[in-house]
Order: sequence, then structure tokens, then C-alpha cells
Amino acid sequence: MSAQYSPESSNPGEAPLTDHAYDGIMEYDNPTPGWWSLIFIVTVLLTPMYLVYFHSRPDERSILAAYDASRAANLRLKFGKMGTLVADERTLLKFMQDEEGLAIARATFLGNCSTCHGKEGEGITGPNMTDDSYLNVKTLTDIPQVIRLGAKAGAMPAWENRLHPNEIVLAAAYMASLRGKNLPSTRPAEGTVIPPWPTATTAPTVK
Ligand code: HEC
Repeated sequence: MSAQYSPESSNPGEAPLTDHAYDGIMEYDNPTPGWWSLIFIVTVLLTPMYLVYFHSRPDERSILAAYDASRAANLRLKFGKMGTLVADERTLLKFMQDEEGLAIARATFLGNCSTCHGKEGEGITGPNMTDDSYLNVKTLTDIPQVIRLGAKAGAMPAWENRLHPNEIVLAAAYMASLRGKNLPSTRPAEGTVIPPWPTATTAPTVK
């Protein structure tokens, strides 16, 4: 067989020629099959739905967020093994260093808290959690307390009945871990500057 181009070898079905000719090169009239075009048109018509769905609230709906959420759901199963965490200083300090615990907490945070506190805790309608100034917090253990009971007549909602107690402890540790990032915020620093968190000690307290 010759490696040279020949119309016969590239047109076994013998499609008719179109009247297009460019520099002597002819074009076969070989359109894509109807079923193929139909699938193509349907995908094009479906595109706006995906555009709106994924790009209107990208943080909550991205594939990464879905991954985080299902990972967190899986980790939540581990709460059974964790026992009920006590919201004391030791436990909070422990989980401020615990990668898995902080991952659960970040999913909780993005799902429930970031609308007010900002995606990175920088503050929107809620205060900036990355600086050293606090409104309702004087010591580390005040954080789970505020999360449980809320503050300012519900401006900060109470989460006691909406989150698992372990989720509250982990969210508190996560909030505490944001301190010191000092992210730029549209809000001025609120409240008073409090002493630094104590340094980490030993194992978490389990009831
Ligand atoms: C509807 C908005 C909103 C949501 C949702 C929200 N917060 Fe808040 N949060 C606030 C506001 C407003 C304050 C400040 C209250 C005040 O002025 O005393 C606050 C304060 C706090 C504080 C104390 C900060 C300080 O300086 O005293 C913590 C901790 C906190 N929120 C954690 C959370 C966590 C964790 C979640 C999610 C489980 C959450 N918040 C969800 C609005 C919100």
C-alpha cells in the first residue's frame, strides 16, 4: 500500500464532494450523524443550568466542597469512637493541633458560620476571628460557650440544639486556631485584646 494520500482510501463510504475547494483541496460532504448532533445540542442546552448551579454559590457547591462535606460526614462517624468531648481547655488545645478534627470543624464552619464570619474567619456581619480582639471571649473555654448559647440576643445564633456537642468543641478549637492570622477585614477590630491562649498540654478529656 502506498502511504500517499488518495481519495479512495480516505473515503470508503464514498460520500459526495461538497463544492468547497481550498488550494485544490476538496471537502467531502460527511456530516456528523444526527444522534451525535442531538447529544451535542442537548449538552449545550443543559450548560446554563450547570453554570448557574456551580457559579452562583461556588464555595458551597464546588467539587472540593462536596469532597470536604462527605469526608466530614465520614469523620463524624468517628464521633462514636471519640466519646463525648468535654469543652475544657485541655481538649480545645489538643484539637487546635489535630488535623482531622480541624477538617471536620472547617466543614462545619463553611456550612454554618462562614456566611457571617467570612470564609477564612475574617468577619462579615460577625466579628473578625483572626485578630486578638474579642467581644464575648476572655479565655479559651468562653468560645464553646458562645457557640452553644449564642450572643447579642441571637445576632450570633445559639448552636446548642443544631450541632453535635463534639462539633461545637471542634468548631471552637477551629475558631481559636484562626487567631493570629490577622486577615484584612471590612470590620474594625471589636471588643478588647485578650491574653494569648495557653500552650498545649496532653490528651483530650472524654466523659
Ligand atoms: C447570623 C450570623 C452568624 C452566624 C451564622 C454565626 N455567627 Fe458567630 N457571631 C455573630 C455575631 C454578630 C457575633 C458577635 C456577637 C456580639 O456582638 O456580641 C458572633 C460572635 C461569635 C463568637 C464570639 C466572638 C467574640 O469576639 O466574642 C464566636 C466564637 C462565634 N461567633 C462562633 C461562631 C460559630 C462557630 C458559628 C457557626 C457554628 C457562628 N459563629 C455562626 C454572627 C454569626
